[in-house]
Amino acid sequence: MIRTRTCGELTEKAIGQEAVLNGWVHRRRDHGGLIFIDLRDRWGITQVVFNPAQGTDTHTKAKDLRSEYCVAVKGTVAKRPAGTENPKIATGMIELIANRLEIFNPSLTPPFEIAEETELNEELRYQYRYLDLRRQSNLQRLVLRHEVLRVMRRVLEDERFIEVETPVLTKSTPEGARDYLVPSRLNPGKFYALPQSPQLFKQILMVAGFERYYQIARCFRDEDLRADRQPEFTQLDLEMSFVNEEMIFSLMEKLFSDVWKEVLHRDLPVPFPRLTYEESMRRFGTDKPDLRYGMELIDLTPLFAETSFQRFREVVAKGGVVKCVVVPEATRLSGKVIDGFTEAAKHLGAQGLVTIRLTEKEWICPVAKHLGEETLQRAVGQAKARPGDLILMVADQPAITARVLSGLREHSARLMELIPKGEFRFVWLTDFPLFQWDPELKRWQSEHHPFTAPRQEDIPLLEKEPQKVRSRSYDLVVNGVELGSGSIRIHERNVQEAIFRVLGLEPREVQERFGFLLEAFQYGAPPHGGIAPGIDRLITLMTDAPSIREVIAFPKTQKGVDLMTQAPSDVREDQLKEVGISVRKMISSVPRP
Ligand code: AMO
Repeated sequence: MIRTRTCGELTEKAIGQEAVLNGWVHRRRDHGGLIFIDLRDRWGITQVVFNPAQGTDTHTKAKDLRSEYCVAVKGTVAKRPAGTENPKIATGMIELIANRLEIFNPSLTPPFEIAEETELNEELRYQYRYLDLRRQSNLQRLVLRHEVLRVMRRVLEDERFIEVETPVLTKSTPEGARDYLVPSRLNPGKFYALPQSPQLFKQILMVAGFERYYQIARCFRDEDLRADRQPEFTQLDLEMSFVNEEMIFSLMEKLFSDVWKEVLHRDLPVPFPRLTYEESMRRFGTDKPDLRYGMELIDLTPLFAETSFQRFREVVAKGGVVKCVVVPEATRLSGKVIDGFTEAAKHLGAQGLVTIRLTEKEWICPVAKHLGEETLQRAVGQAKARPGDLILMVADQPAITARVLSGLREHSARLMELIPKGEFRFVWLTDFPLFQWDPELKRWQSEHHPFTAPRQEDIPLLEKEPQKVRSRSYDLVVNGVELGSGSIRIHERNVQEAIFRVLGLEPREVQERFGFLLEAFQYGAPPHGGIAPGIDRLITLMTDAPSIREVIAFPKTQKGVDLMTQAPSDVREDQLKEVGISVRKMISSVPRP
């Protein structure tokens, strides 16, 4: 019995008509001889009634139905008896009076109920992902993902981009993570690397004259996983020749505003505002500012440079800064919650946290005695705090102060419920430094990646003062999440070589790893640039999903395990032999999470 209608489409208009539905038994209830099932398919749910009077055979068969049986039902659409309608669903006014039933496949009792309201343990959900995905909310997120990609493809096609696939078995493409390596049977002892991004290939496509390339590209990065990271994830990767930053910004603004309009049916104000890296660090303590709420950082360094409060004065004398955030109306929080801020600050790397609680009657500050009345007055004045507010103050090296206060800003905004729901605040971050110093490795690292162009006027600073070189990279940040990054690239061999020198790469290594790129630059490489927004993060934002795992059909756990297939797994000895690998026992016997 092939279906004639879906479970989402029968309404009062169909009353009296015959219909065949196919789907899964969502719920089953017996009422004095009558058997009701909610039949579910991708499109919705329809109530089906088996009446003993309708033919004993069908009714007897229906008695066997259990949750998640896959069935076909034939019957007549009827109006539901008065008082039993369900106005919440599209098919809630009708039911199908069944006269035939075919069971395609019974189902074992599922390990969890396929219902929206069920709170489930993640491990079980991912182990039985095919059952988890039967839940409407999961399906809807993946449908939305599909729609977003459809709009993106349409916009880029209108702009005459071409989609090109680049290799997955390739050579290391550095983006700051470890590579996933794949041994080569035909070249024993040699390995492919899975691409951390298609960066080098898209640049080569520009040298090839393609001018406008895009790809819905899978990227692989072996890094510690967090809530917004997966070991394999998807980028909308794109690259253009003969462009500047403005052209890339306006293309992205068009792309995202069309996505918002067509998928969320909402207007996204464009152009997006812009912040320089320096301004963002100063005002928010982070290069991923969440602009949905205020509580900007206030600099109190000059005040404490000259006070008698020795601890702060010393920090300032050593090049440190004193900054604060004001949490509005937070004095109503309990002492225990306020102590929690100190714990959070320490967790973020602070030595300590000074709090000032401004009640109607008094100011409560544990170090008031050391600060002195006047400094306290001036600090509260400069912070523009009002009765009821709580001031959180940190004195430390600039990077630590920024990290701690931006963390506390976010933490308190959540705690005080200051973050508006359903709002999206896009912002471009620009003027990043080209390099950052890695104190552990004692060398310069690229802030973005080594192929990012320095500002033309800063090129002379490369050798002597790399810390002063500004880059032509940009990040697109939404609600405190880095959604995408990109840059105008280097297209000249000598500049690229100078960058590799600053990064401490030996000429032999450069030749081995990037020789093909340097060579390509010598054949009339055009100026070019691009960007790559992360699709998984985008969909997480758009659907307000609790984790990136919820917007990926088959995600991996924090330990990089696919609980359904149990990948990664042991391989046979002969497979290893073929690729010339022997596994040390201690490695292969690491227990599963
Ligand atoms: P970048 O490394 O900044 O840039 O990555 C771009 C975007 O990809 C997403 N992303 C991730 N999403 C999920 N899990 C991860 N582990 C993960 N890592 C990155 C983020 C991020 O903003 N080739 C450059 C782009 C370019 O210069 O054109 C690149 O890959 O949303």
